[in-house]
Amino acid sequence: MRRIIDLNFNWLYRNDFKDEYLADAIDAALFSEVSLPHTNIDLPYNYFDESMYAFESCYRKEIDIPEEFAVKSVFLCFQGAAHRARVFVNGRLAAEHKGGYTGFEVRLDGFLSFGKKNTFVVQLDSSEREEIPPFGNVVDYLTYGGIYREVFLKVVDPCHISDVFVRTPAVLESEKTLVLDITLSRAETGLSVCVRLDDRSGKTVASFSEPCLALRAAGVVGAAGADSDMRLFSLSRKIGDIELWDTENPCLYNLTVTLERGGTRLDEVAMKTGFREAEFRTDGFYLNGKKLKIRGLNRHQSFAHAGYAMPAFIQAEDARILKEELGVDLVRTSHYPQSQHFIDECDRLGLLVFTEIPGWQFISENPEWRSLALGNVGEMIAQNRNHASIVLWGVRINESPDDDELYAKTNAFARLLDPTRQTGGVRCIAGSRLLEDVYTYNDFIHTGKNSPLARARKITRSSSAPYLVSEHNGHMFPTKKFDHEEKRIEHALRHMRVLDTMYGNARISGAVGWCMADYNTHKDFGSGDKICYHGVLDMFRIQKTAAWAYSSQQEKKPVMEVASSMDIGEHPGSLMSPLYIFTNCDFVRFYKNEELIGDFYPDRIRFPNVPHAPVLVDDLVGPSLERNEGLAHAHAEMLKSVLNYAAVKGSSLPLKYLMKMAWVMLRTHLRASDGYRLFSTYIGNWGGKRTVYRFEGFTNGTLVKTTIKSSVQRPRLTMKADRSTLVEDKTWDAVRIVLSLVCENGNLLPYSNEALTVTCEGPISLIGSPVIALIGGSAGLYIKTRGLSGRARVTVASQNRGECFLDFEVEKKTVQ
Ligand code: GAL
Repeated sequence: MRRIIDLNFNWLYRNDFKDEYLADAIDAALFSEVSLPHTNIDLPYNYFDESMYAFESCYRKEIDIPEEFAVKSVFLCFQGAAHRARVFVNGRLAAEHKGGYTGFEVRLDGFLSFGKKNTFVVQLDSSEREEIPPFGNVVDYLTYGGIYREVFLKVVDPCHISDVFVRTPAVLESEKTLVLDITLSRAETGLSVCVRLDDRSGKTVASFSEPCLALRAAGVVGAAGADSDMRLFSLSRKIGDIELWDTENPCLYNLTVTLERGGTRLDEVAMKTGFREAEFRTDGFYLNGKKLKIRGLNRHQSFAHAGYAMPAFIQAEDARILKEELGVDLVRTSHYPQSQHFIDECDRLGLLVFTEIPGWQFISENPEWRSLALGNVGEMIAQNRNHASIVLWGVRINESPDDDELYAKTNAFARLLDPTRQTGGVRCIAGSRLLEDVYTYNDFIHTGKNSPLARARKITRSSSAPYLVSEHNGHMFPTKKFDHEEKRIEHALRHMRVLDTMYGNARISGAVGWCMADYNTHKDFGSGDKICYHGVLDMFRIQKTAAWAYSSQQEKKPVMEVASSMDIGEHPGSLMSPLYIFTNCDFVRFYKNEELIGDFYPDRIRFPNVPHAPVLVDDLVGPSLERNEGLAHAHAEMLKSVLNYAAVKGSSLPLKYLMKMAWVMLRTHLRASDGYRLFSTYIGNWGGKRTVYRFEGFTNGTLVKTTIKSSVQRPRLTMKADRSTLVEDKTWDAVRIVLSLVCENGNLLPYSNEALTVTCEGPISLIGSPVIALIGGSAGLYIKTRGLSGRARVTVASQNRGECFLDFEVEKKTVQ
C-alpha cells in the first residue's frame, strides 16, 4: 500500500548555491533551518527592489530510507517550487523542473541508498529565466521564490495507480454513470480495481470491482508524464442516486480506488469528487442545466511579506473570503495554477474556478518556452481535473496575441486530457482567432461615464461564441483603502456598473473583476511602491468600499454598508457626493437625530439588473422642514428639493431651483438670509449638538441591520483573528489578525495611520515587522507556528489607543 511521507520540516537553506553543497558532509552551521512552505526572502510591505527574490538558493534535507523501500517505487513530489528546480539525490542530478506553478514528481529509482541516510538537495533558481513562462518580457505581478508549496515522498508498489480521472459530467449524460480513467504504472495480468463511492454522511452509494482487462497504451497520461510502462484503463458503471454539486449545495463524495492482485491490495487512492455539468453557451453559463450569471473576481496567490509561501489554512481562507464575505460565484486563478488547498476549498464551498497556464501578454519564439507552455497545459489539467469546482481551462497566455501554431496545440492537448471541460483563453483583442470553446475577454472600456462593457458581438465577431468577461476595472481605477471617499465610492460604483451591464445582457456569461486583492508588482506597474491597488480588498484581504459591490449581491446574510462617513468636509467644496448604501436589504430607513427622514429603496434607475442595486439616499432633509420650520407640505417639499440639490451641487442654483426658492419665500415668512441657516442646519449640521445618522436595513419587513454614523468620540483599537487555534501538522500553520481603529459605533476610521507594536508570546512568531502602522484605518498581520504546542498571546500596543491582545491555542502534531 502507498505511504505518503511529508517532508516539510527541517530543511537546511542557503540563499546561494555552490556545488559543494551537494557533498555528503557539509557544515550545517552555514545553513539556516527552514520549514515549507518557504519564501526565499521575507519582503517588505512595499517600496523594495523586486529583484530581491530573483536569485539561486539551496535546500538540503537528509532522510533515512529504510531497506524495505528497495522493493518499492519511490517518488519525491513537489507541489510548487519557483521557478527552476534541479533535484539532486546523493549528489547526482535526478531531475530538473522548469515552471513555478505546477507540481512535479521525481522518480527516485536508481538514486537511493537503502537502509541509509540519503541526501536531497534542490538547487532552486528563482530568477526570471527567459525560457520559462511567464518570463521573457514584463509581467504585472511578482513571481517570488522558494519551495513555496509542500514536498512529500510517495512510496508505492512498483505496480501502482498513477492517476485516476473522474469524468464527472458523465453522470448526467448517461443516466448516472460513473466514468473513471485509471492509469496504472504497469500492465500486468491478474489485476483488478475496487471502486467505492461514499456520500458525505459516510454511506456507500456505489461499490464494485472490475478486472483490469481493457488496458491500453495511454497516449498521454498526464501528471506522471509519458512513461512507456503506463497503461490507461477506463471503466464506467451505472450508479444509484447522486446529489449534484452546485454553488448552493456543493455536494462532494469520497471516492476510493483500490488496486489488487489476487486478493492482495497493492495501492489505494482516495479523493473527493463532485458530480456536475458545466457549460458556457451562446446565451450564458449553465450549471447542471440551470443558467447562472457569473459574478467573479481574479485572484493572485501572493501575500504581503511571505510572497507565495503560505500554508493550507491561509490558502483556504481566500476561498472563504471570496465565497462567504464577497459572495462571488467564480474565481479566476490569474495567471497560473494555484494551491491545491485553495482549489479544494473552492470544491468544498461551491466556488467555481477558471484556472489557466502561467503567462502574461508575451509569447516567446524560444522553442523551449513554447514547449514548457504546452507542458503547463498538461500539468495543470492532470493535477486539477478532479476538482468539481473547475469549469474552464485557460489555455492561452493571458492577453497574448493570436498564435495559431501554439494555441491549436494547447487546445488539442486540453481536450485530449479532459474532454469534459471547455477551454477558454484570455485575450484583450477583439476579433481574435477563437480556437477555444469560450471567448474570454478582458474588457477595460469603462471610464466611469461611458458604457461599462463592450458588446459581445463586437468583441467576438460572432453571434454564437460563448462569451465571458474575464477582467474589468483594475488599472482603470486603482484605489487605495486610504483614498478619499468619493474615489472609493466611484471604485465600487464602477464594479457595480459592470456587474449590472453583465446581468442585463444575455450574451455575457459573467464578469470576473480585476481583482480580489491588492498585490505586489514590478516597477512598470502599480503606484511606484510596488503595489497594484487594483483589489476590492487590500493585500491583507481587508475590504475596501468596492468589496461591497460584491458582498451586497449575496443572499446568505444581510449586508448593509453605508459608503459615507457623513462628513461634508471630506468633499471638495464641502459638497456631499450622492449617498450610496450597498445592501441586499429591501429598503433602508434613515433617521437624523432620531427624526425619520424617509425610507429609501434600491436604485433601479441606474442599476436595473443586479440582484441588489445600491440604495441611493437623495434626501437628507425629509419632513424636517414641516416639523421644525412649520412650513406647509408643498412649501417644505419645494424647499427640500433646493437644499438637497445644493447639498450635492453647491449654492449656485440653476434657474429652476432659484424659482422654487423664490416661490417659497413669497409664500412663507422665510427670507434670503434664511438660506444659509437652513443649509447649515439641515445639510451641514454645523454647530449645536452632534448629529447622529441612523440607517436601518429591512428585509421582508424585519429590521436586519443597523448602522449609526456620527462624529467620532471614543475611537478604539480592535483585533480580530480568523480563528483562535493553530495546528502544526503537515506544515507550519498561520492565521491572519486584522487590526482596526473604529469609532464607538463600530465604523472604521479610514484615515488613521496609528503606529503599533506587536508582541508575540508563546510558540508563535510574526511574519513581517513587529512595528507597523495602520494603513487607512486597518492593518493585517500573520502569525505562524514554530514547532511547539502551548498557549500563545499576541499583544498590540499603541501609544494613543492603549493595548489589546488575543490568545491562541497552538498544537504541534507532527513528529518529524
Ligand atoms: C490586465 C492584466 C492583469 C492586470 C490588469 C490590471 O491587462 O491581465 O494581469 O495587469 O490588466 O488591470
